[in-house]
Amino acid sequence: MDLIIKNGTIVTPTESFQADLGVKDGKVAMIGTELSMEGAKIVDASGMLVLPGAIDVHTHLAMPFGGTVSADSYLSGTRAAACGGVTTVFDYPMQRKGRGIIETVEARKQLCDPEACVDYAFHCCITDLNDGAILDEFEAAVAFGVTSFKCFLVYKKEGMMVDDATLVKVLQKAKETGAMTNIHAENPDLIDLNVEKFLKEGKTSPWYHYLSRPEYVEAEADKRAIHWAKSVEAPLYLVHMADKEGLEAAVAAKRDGYDIYVETCPQYLEYTCDVYKREDGRNFVCSPPMKGKESQDALWKAIQNGTIDTVATDHCPFQSYEKDWGKDDFTKIPNGCAGVENLYPYMLSAANEGKLSFNRVVELCSFNPAKIFGCTSKGSISVGKDADLVIYDPNKDFIVSVNNMHSDYDHTIWEGKKLHGYPVQTFVRGRLVYDNGDFVGEPGYGQYVKRVGRI
Ligand code: URP
Ligand code: ZN
Ligand code: ZN
Repeated sequence: MDLIIKNGTIVTPTESFQADLGVKDGKVAMIGTELSMEGAKIVDASGMLVLPGAIDVHTHLAMPFGGTVSADSYLSGTRAAACGGVTTVFDYPMQRKGRGIIETVEARKQLCDPEACVDYAFHCCITDLNDGAILDEFEAAVAFGVTSFKCFLVYKKEGMMVDDATLVKVLQKAKETGAMTNIHAENPDLIDLNVEKFLKEGKTSPWYHYLSRPEYVEAEADKRAIHWAKSVEAPLYLVHMADKEGLEAAVAAKRDGYDIYVETCPQYLEYTCDVYKREDGRNFVCSPPMKGKESQDALWKAIQNGTIDTVATDHCPFQSYEKDWGKDDFTKIPNGCAGVENLYPYMLSAANEGKLSFNRVVELCSFNPAKIFGCTSKGSISVGKDADLVIYDPNKDFIVSVNNMHSDYDHTIWEGKKLHGYPVQTFVRGRLVYDNGDFVGEPGYGQYVKRVGRI
């Protein structure tokens, strides 16, 4: 063995048990007691939980958006990921008119390869079908390991939105090729209508970001996407679900046997739309916005009863000076917030407080993401899988501050958040990348994860 983690409690989606874990050549090689220690590095995990690394299936690193580029590069974003127990990140390259899928993803892979500190995979956002050429490329993209395609039902002015016909074509082609369609669901026409009205009335604070995209704006688009997915019997993955009505529609479709998956994010579980009334409300501007308490309660209930499938971050931070562009006009605030380093600690702290089980956190943040997005060597602690591991101290208290994060942003919506329990070490394929507050990994160590379809 190269590494033995002794005396810890191993957590899987279904059970927690005390055992030693042996790692050889980056893989989990043995789980048991009395493992041979000859030549192995020993980590004593007494009193600790041993968890599979989280898989954050929703990040936007170095993303051109909102008149600027998101504040975390592939290097700083994956460094932060390592320090928050995330061992694989999924990024969202943006296919643009006239460009192919593989061309788009390859260009981002070139940027990511020398910088990635943890393993990484790509979905691809589709913004234009290039007269059908894009659909013809789905099969090659799947063979390349890109088995999920995202459609935005919003961001019309940004040239990212697709119409319903395009959405249906993508749904059908994804189904045919064994891929998944991911959807950002909000209704653009209603947003425009509301924005125009508020600006005319001189209502420009971040509160009007929420009021221009309230519950019904998201719910209509959730239901529309579900309707089309059901109509063509194609799988559908709703990203960053934030509203109760849309969630209920997704849950009903799941119960009727449709292949519908739901992701939510920690920011929707922690904050409500009231944050937009704060002095620093612009820092919380993301789309969809945080909603009311009723939606938040519904999200927590779905986390607890198993109807939400994944929790991911939508990590897309911007610097304070960029958020300040919208001080006097909420439409000028770049949309997005930080989260990749907070995902696992936040969910695990919630488990520590009894809101859900540690097993369920593992299911939401590691096992289900691997299963839904076809990461065959990741997502659980079992023999033969990658040794992507997190040692978690359930008794370590931690207060989040921009000063103890490992990103490149200058503020965080998580400032001051008290967490009970915190990761103390992260291993990616058996290599230590985070150790008690410090990043100890290496840019370029992270590998591209070539995915298959749903497992
Ligand atoms: O506000 C957000 N969510 N920014 C990132 C892009 C997106 O919509 O996912
Ligand atoms: Zn989105
Ligand atoms: Zn996003």
